[in-house]
Amino acid sequence: MTRWPLYFLFTSEGNVLPCFFFILFFNHVDHFTVGFSLTENGETLVFCAAALLRGSAHGSTGWKQLPDGHSDSPPHVPVDELTTDIVIQVISNMTQTIRQHFPKLTVYPALGNHDYWPQDQMPDSTNAIYKAAAELWKPWLQTEALATLSQGGFYSQLAKPGLRVVSLNTILYYGPDKVTSNMTDPAGQFEWLEKTLQKADQSQEKVYIIAHVPVGYLPFARSTTAIRERDNERLVSIFRKYSHVITGHFYGHTHRDSIMVLPDQQGKPVNSLFVSPAVTPIKSFLEAYSNNPAFRVYLYNSKDYTLQDIWQYYLNLTEANEKQRSDWRLEYVMTEAFGLTDLQPQSLLQLGLSFMLPQTKTFDKYFSHYMVNYDSSITCEGRCKVSQVCAVLYLDQQSYSKCVAKGQ
Ligand SMILES: *[C@@H]1O[C@H](CO)[C@@H](O)[C@H](O)[C@H]1NC(C)=O
Ligand SMILES: *[C@@H]1O[C@H](CO)[C@@H](O)[C@H](O)[C@H]1NC(C)=O
Ligand SMILES: *[C@@H]1O[C@H](CO)[C@@H](O)[C@H](O)[C@H]1NC(C)=O
Ligand SMILES: [Zn+2]
Repeated sequence: MTRWPLYFLFTSEGNVLPCFFFILFFNHVDHFTVGFSLTENGETLVFCAAALLRGSAHGSTGWKQLPDGHSDSPPHVPVDELTTDIVIQVISNMTQTIRQHFPKLTVYPALGNHDYWPQDQMPDSTNAIYKAAAELWKPWLQTEALATLSQGGFYSQLAKPGLRVVSLNTILYYGPDKVTSNMTDPAGQFEWLEKTLQKADQSQEKVYIIAHVPVGYLPFARSTTAIRERDNERLVSIFRKYSHVITGHFYGHTHRDSIMVLPDQQGKPVNSLFVSPAVTPIKSFLEAYSNNPAFRVYLYNSKDYTLQDIWQYYLNLTEANEKQRSDWRLEYVMTEAFGLTDLQPQSLLQLGLSFMLPQTKTFDKYFSHYMVNYDSSITCEGRCKVSQVCAVLYLDQQSYSKCVAKGQ
């Protein structure tokens, strides 16, 4: 773990700055955790994503145990090999590890679908796991946040003057969650979210949304939302209504690197959304590829909290396994890779639209990033490409269907 760039935040000039703020948004208990840090440098704030190896005391040898495309860690094992107590222990161990490495940072966690036992089955009311999380995260969260966390697994907290973090429990909307499948507003989270965004608006705060399972359509599948379709529609409409308050969305779950642009009813781009690639590789039966481990650093504007850039780092797992050593490298800088001025909704829309132009390589580059440089011989054309591009540009059923019908 000595090579881990955890303690560094890079500014656009390459300066290294001390962290004072850290958001953990990707809390798969099984293996690794990805998070964010914020730091202040006069005009510029750097929003940094870091990754932690579970039980990092074992050091980089952890990588050796990772066969390509798989993980050997607890949560991706049969349900009967885990218990509520083990899941709590894993969350606890993870929390301790992060606190050990970042004693002074405030961490903003979001619950993931493996942070429950049986996995995905998060209930709409208080239980041992939400309570344990609230107890474990006391060093980071205030009373009000801890109260909703222990009741429903979600919370909001003012991270700094003018910036609120809203951590949603999107597992409540996740298809495999049988407990909440017939509920219109599990744990009252929709109502709470609207109220929270309304209050943030009145207080002239900006909001970062963090959650594990993303809103919108899965880029690798056809016409499949990541959460249940009706919950997706409702979430999209809330995000549209308060798009002027929200300046960034950060999700995980797919383990892949993708973007989305939320258009309003008239098609004007109003929000930028990011799905960060994971530190752990995963391969679904729907995909012909996996991903390399990755973490990222965001640059944002300290005045209005809009997103400016991403530094994406990765580990070539094939090489790491061959050399028995982990050399993390810069994969790309988003504005440079695609010739953008920033990551605001209008810029991301231009990028998304450019994917469809003939004789341009931008989509191929995007798709290579999607897999975190996993295998350059795998390409995405035709139907695969249409699914990817429509998932970038449209988040609701009506506009997405039109997009795929047009593209075939
Ligand atoms: C948590 O950490 C303790 C102490 O290091 C260890 O004994 C235990 O096996 C860990 N639990 C899990 C589930 O990783
Ligand atoms: C949800 O509704 C369906 C159809 O009415 C029913 O079969 C199912 O048992 C319900 N599930 C729960 C968890 O209540
Ligand atoms: C990763 O490493 C392997 C083995 O050294 C190499 O063949 C491959 O080209 C590398 N991939 C990238 C994206 O550098
Ligand atoms: Zn997940």
